Amino acid sequence: MAETTGAGLPKGFRGAEQGWPELDRIPHPPRRLPLLGDVLGVDRRTPLQDSMRLARELGPIFRRRVLNREFVFLWGAKPAADMADETRFAKHVGLGVANLRPVAGDGLFTAYNHEPNWQLAHDVLAPGFSREAMAGYHTMMLAVAGRLTGHWDRELAAGRTVDVPGDMTRLTLETIARTGFGHDFGSFERDRPHPFVTAMVGTLAHAQRLNSLPMPPVLQRRAARRNAADIAYLDDTVDALVAARRDSGRGEGDLLDRMLETAHPVTGERLSAENVRKQVITFLVAGHETTSGALSFALYYLAEHPEIAARARAEVDRVWGDTPEPGYDQVARLRYLRRVLDESLRLWPTAPAFAREATEDTVLAGEHPMRRGGWALVLTPMLHRDPEVWGEDAERFDPDRFDAKAVRARPPHTFKPFGTGARACVGRQFALHEATLVLGLLLRRYELIPDPGYRLKVTERLTLMPDGLRLGLERRKAPVAAPAAAPGPDAGSAGRCPVRGTDE
Ligand code: HEM
Repeated sequence: MAETTGAGLPKGFRGAEQGWPELDRIPHPPRRLPLLGDVLGVDRRTPLQDSMRLARELGPIFRRRVLNREFVFLWGAKPAADMADETRFAKHVGLGVANLRPVAGDGLFTAYNHEPNWQLAHDVLAPGFSREAMAGYHTMMLAVAGRLTGHWDRELAAGRTVDVPGDMTRLTLETIARTGFGHDFGSFERDRPHPFVTAMVGTLAHAQRLNSLPMPPVLQRRAARRNAADIAYLDDTVDALVAARRDSGRGEGDLLDRMLETAHPVTGERLSAENVRKQVITFLVAGHETTSGALSFALYYLAEHPEIAARARAEVDRVWGDTPEPGYDQVARLRYLRRVLDESLRLWPTAPAFAREATEDTVLAGEHPMRRGGWALVLTPMLHRDPEVWGEDAERFDPDRFDAKAVRARPPHTFKPFGTGARACVGRQFALHEATLVLGLLLRRYELIPDPGYRLKVTERLTLMPDGLRLGLERRKAPVAAPAAAPGPDAGSAGRCPVRGTDE
């Protein structure tokens, strides 16, 4: 676990002073305190929303200092698009991501670009997200969605509102566990979150806290002990899951089979046992936490905008007809509902920042010199609100921003909820398919009733989630069948690399 320097910073941490020769030209908050830095008005629980506030005050590129660390943030469409240039920039495994290394090691998400295990795991695992593989997961996604609607039917019958983030987390955890690893956490049969989720949230929140204001040493020690226990729980869960697979022989050709059995197509190399452990944790965490947030925000906006929900619902009725269980291809045809999802991810991209570093000495957007290794955090929720791209009404929820004509008219690299380049999200298609399918099923079955007293509050634990969101439900008048067990997959042919094709 020797991932930190003596100063508690991630190994290899480079302050902005080293990477940005003309740092003085980049604005910072006006009331900078000696020693402490830019900490006035900062809340340890909401670092992202604090940065959004500062972004509005300071403009498209700015910096913040916390103690001895200086960071550059950017969100203007111009510098952000320049940072998407893969010939001069690459992913930076910076503070937030580096703080997850004790949990996820050199797994795909947290691997340094130079670590050979990234390319190996990418080449072995990316085909697990081809169109053909996705079509196979569709059946299992439907089965898990059936458990959600069963749960919501019971809540409705009991006259209760539903816990949207809690239930979306149950759904997405079960979906990735089932499709990726043939595992069932029994989330819908529990009143409280599965301990795996509690441990995961603990490690994410811990990684976030390490980025922000320092804690008194006694609290730091307590938090470190708690974090070590959380990591041990995650490791034990995953070890048991892998051991069960090794004992029982092959699964259904899922991600775990790939991890254990597939050799690299060119080198013939395989993932080591330790790396498999880190990949399983990576996929279980990355594969559900962000998607549950995306679904929760989309449900919030659908409930707040009944006219948008009605339009999406009409599309579902038209495309799906009275098929009790829509096929794989029928999900991609829900174009308006996809726009609803995209628009939710525009306003609240649930992995709300990614870091990029210069791979050579360069000048960012023709203005800011950077040395090789210099880096910045791209603040996606602000990039997605840049008025020059999205207009003065960028705060308004409007799915038509994503109709084909509007998308074509926008400059490239202005919508980046899944990151960019070679290290963009490998699970993008998985998340979009799952979320569109589930939203379609829910809209078809229920009217969503918002609580008039609810005001959107966003909770942060590296990822974003609407806090305390509960919705009332009514069954739609026309009887609609719930998805049950397994329909035949509406399969298609194998696809291209799901990662390389993700950028706009
Ligand atoms: C709405 C849902 C999701 C969002 C918003 C999201 C967002 C992101 C972002 C922004 C990155 C790049 C991070 C960086 O540059 O540091 C990323 C990477 C990644 N995501 Fe996702 N993700 C989602 C769903 C998923 C799912 C469902 C899976 C797996 C089934 C997944 C697995 C990964 C992995 C493994 C990486 C690392 C890829 C690499 O570096 O090679 N994500 N995701």
